[in-house]
Amino acid sequence: MKRLIFVLAIIFNLVHMSYNRRQFISFLGKASVGTVLFPHYLTSCGNTSTPIKVEDITQDRIDELRKLILKALPASDRDDLLLVDGLNYHTIIKWGDNISNKETFGFNNDFTCFIPLDESNPKDGLLWVNHEYINPLYIAHQNGFTNDQTKKSIAQIDKEMYNVGGSIVRIKEENGQWKIVKNDPYNRRITAKTPIKLNWDYKIKGKSTVMGTLANCSGGITPWQTFLTCEENYDGFYGETLYDANGEPQHKESYYYGWENYYDNPPEHYGWVVEVDPKTGNAQKHIALGRFAHECCTLYELEDKRIVAYTGDDSNNEHLYKFVSSKPNSLKEGVLYVADTINGKWLALDWETQPILQEKFKDQTQVLIRAREAAKLLGATPLNRPEDIEIDPITGHIFVSLTNNKRKNDFHGSILKIEESEGKFDALTFSASTFMAGGEANGFSCPDNLAFDHSGNLWFTSDMSGNAMNKDGKPYLAFKNNSLFVIPRFGDDAGKVLRVASAPRDAELTGPWFSPDGKTLFLSVQHPGEQTKDINNPTSKWPFDKDNIPKPAVVAITGNLIEKMNRLNELNI
Ligand code: FEO
Ligand code: CA
Ligand code: CA
Repeated sequence: MKRLIFVLAIIFNLVHMSYNRRQFISFLGKASVGTVLFPHYLTSCGNTSTPIKVEDITQDRIDELRKLILKALPASDRDDLLLVDGLNYHTIIKWGDNISNKETFGFNNDFTCFIPLDESNPKDGLLWVNHEYINPLYIAHQNGFTNDQTKKSIAQIDKEMYNVGGSIVRIKEENGQWKIVKNDPYNRRITAKTPIKLNWDYKIKGKSTVMGTLANCSGGITPWQTFLTCEENYDGFYGETLYDANGEPQHKESYYYGWENYYDNPPEHYGWVVEVDPKTGNAQKHIALGRFAHECCTLYELEDKRIVAYTGDDSNNEHLYKFVSSKPNSLKEGVLYVADTINGKWLALDWETQPILQEKFKDQTQVLIRAREAAKLLGATPLNRPEDIEIDPITGHIFVSLTNNKRKNDFHGSILKIEESEGKFDALTFSASTFMAGGEANGFSCPDNLAFDHSGNLWFTSDMSGNAMNKDGKPYLAFKNNSLFVIPRFGDDAGKVLRVASAPRDAELTGPWFSPDGKTLFLSVQHPGEQTKDINNPTSKWPFDKDNIPKPAVVAITGNLIEKMNRLNELNI
């Protein structure tokens, strides 16, 4: 690892000399390029290449890096998945496909995460895919149910519940094509009915094992190679418990699915970070990480194996959190903090040490269940919908997408950069600044998922909502369909925002995840045709299969360009 750090530092020092200096500084910020902090478990999973020899970094190689000029895609409103020259895709799996004789792939795929079964073979492993929510129109159509939301049968609700959660599928790459291994013993579904344990010493609403997971948006990976899947807009399914001025709980009905009318599950069982074992499917909800609309959970392992977990609450004026464990490899023992980005302080959501929390809540369990209220009592900074979070592999800075906050006239969002004091991930102070703002000047709007590739290029997706895209009179018209962008770290395009993929109509591109060898980008195409009112006249037909309706699907993006972008791989790192 030390060798990798050293070599990365040399490469970036060398490339630095050729950069447009302004772009370089704006990208890397103030940190020294010597502080390289790539989480080893992100690079070690299946990456079989050998470390680069310093003498291999010749001027020829550096010149080659600089020559990478990417011809970005223009914005498009076409109903297709369009890719820039040098990239191509194939569909790995789509909604309704059989993964075994018993199970099918769920709806609205989001976060993806690939873990090789054997570290020596990066082309054979288990793919986790989140299924965030369902579109009742399509579930009803494919299963012969009514589309009248007031007349749903229990069988229809069960079908909806089956189609959220997540899928584990074994996939293999042969001759450049990733394919699922049907009926592989590891293939399984986790659904809104799968029993899931709470990783906590106390019951919540009388239960220590709860029914299912839902609203699974983005996620993460642990250093011990398990999947994390995050429950985001949980209140759409079983509603929420709100507290009146007297502190009395009131049930706020779910705004969309109405599952509480069919199953007696309390809202408090949802809104958590969930960990799934790839091989057994065993799952647990991590109560210590708090309860809110978790977009994602991004982990960093400290030298003493304690864990730092960053997670954002994707809702207007909600907050950014970090958990720091007190024991190695624990997501239970430790302290949850919330960010005061104005003063650069992490505020402890800790009942024992915070009298203001003791006045309002009876114990730490209540603090964690009602984390949003506790955060506000402590003075946490309201943010414009914190979504995905990634750690810059070169500088160790933490990047956070702030999608938008229309109520505050922030229509295009921005990417926030957090620099922990002295580069220490368990620091209690930090500085925050805007890395890049959305808008026509930078060519993107509403940043959502982020992914750094092996060379430190930043890839990100956009999430303009379907009912505002391509609409006259809306601020999103110029951006056309949602897209995938990259900000190159090297070459003549360093620091520019380049569109590399354009989504089908109404869709959002989600869950970007690089294969261990850096040669494939797994990507979800979520909710194509979401604005459809008439099933016989859908707004999208992607991926153009025999059913003639749109289907969410996971694709593999490959090609010369990805391999070029991952230049360090070419240098045998
Ligand atoms: Fe499910 Fe915040 O995106
Ligand atoms: Ca998202
Ligand atoms: Ca989003």
